Amino acid sequence: MLARPPLSLYIHIPWCIRKCPYCDFNSHESNSPLPEHEYIEALLEDLAHEFSRFGQNQRELISIFIGGGTPSLFSGDSYRALLHRISELVNFSSKIEITLEANPGTVEAERFSSYRDAGINRLSLGIQSFNNDCLLKLGRIHNSEESLQAIEIAKGVGFKNFNLDLMHGLPGQESEQALNDLQIAISVAPTHISWYQLTIEPNTAFYRYPPQLPHEAILEKIQEDGQNLLESHGYVQYEVSAFAKNGFTSLHNHNYWSFGDYLGVGAGAHGKLTLPNENKLIRIRKQKQPNSYLQGQARREAELKDIPKQERTVEFLMNALRLKDGFNQIQFESRTGLAFSVISKRVEYQIENGLMQRTEKDGEEFFSTTTIGYRFLNSVLEEFL
Ligand SMILES: C[S@@+](CC[C@H](N)C(=O)[O-])C[C@H]1O[C@@H](n2cnc3c(N)ncnc32)[C@H](O)[C@@H]1O
Ligand code: SF4
Repeated sequence: MLARPPLSLYIHIPWCIRKCPYCDFNSHESNSPLPEHEYIEALLEDLAHEFSRFGQNQRELISIFIGGGTPSLFSGDSYRALLHRISELVNFSSKIEITLEANPGTVEAERFSSYRDAGINRLSLGIQSFNNDCLLKLGRIHNSEESLQAIEIAKGVGFKNFNLDLMHGLPGQESEQALNDLQIAISVAPTHISWYQLTIEPNTAFYRYPPQLPHEAILEKIQEDGQNLLESHGYVQYEVSAFAKNGFTSLHNHNYWSFGDYLGVGAGAHGKLTLPNENKLIRIRKQKQPNSYLQGQARREAELKDIPKQERTVEFLMNALRLKDGFNQIQFESRTGLAFSVISKRVEYQIENGLMQRTEKDGEEFFSTTTIGYRFLNSVLEEFL
């Protein structure tokens, strides 16, 4: 039986000062003044519309994630108004996590204090690397000194909970450089580190003009040594790219990866909702172009997609098996609406082959990938197609 999982909210800000050559997020370069006020109004109208058609506003929000693009191009005043008006539409859990993704440029850092005052309680800084040559090759417009300053400012204005985004496997990168980036990150004591291996995505400049990436052996060494370094400093890996100090797992990330529900507002935002009364799981995708999104009618023409029963197993596992702890039977059944017997034989088969394991957490049985299964996640998932 489907049951409602926790509910999160994702808010997308679709503009950046300059498009990075590796980025396939819905971000649009803009040098002219942004329609900040209009966009905030559009987000609120979008959210109110979501509540009126799906009736989810009796639920409590456990997290809000303001991502981009570059959300730190907007002012603290805009976010204060936005969060206040969202709180009039839906209840916030007493422990709500409200994250804003910020770029570490000087202008952005000047706004951190007003973000804190606006009610944002977690900052995620897009550092990428502390090496200026690497930053240049990545087409970033900030440098390492600005990053270190931005981190100090974030701490100084009271962000106790902050994440650093780093990438590795960068053009021309040696394993020592990647580890050095991690070491510097660890030295400034974030509560969370997102450590992504650079991927070359279609529709990016790097796809059209591929840079020289490190060889496979170097990538493997970076991965292994980096994970050991993070773990030895108390950063526990809970997802493929996410490492957190005890008690600082991101509620938003965790809800997303455990196939929880989330509403998505903003240009190109995605949502996923469980509708138990109709026995449905749906995905919602908004207009990608900021200008179209700003026009009321076009904004309401979001794409709706039902996740049919035959796709739910793989969709659930594609998310839940990225979590180190995996999932339990109740989560599988309540989040897919399917009986556990649908996958139990295949789970047993993976356990026999050493790719999955049974573990116990708080007296409950969980199913997760083994170290080797985690490395070959795609092969594990293929068994469930
Ligand atoms: C929504 S993106 C960008 C947030 C912010 N605008 C920035 O650039 O810092 C979130 C993170 O995804 C990671 N990322 C983006 N593109 C990637 C790629 N092609 N491969 C690996 N990681 C990527 C970066 O670490 C980035 O900070
Ligand atoms: S990586 Fe970040 S700053 Fe660069 S284009 Fe993408 S969203 Fe914008």
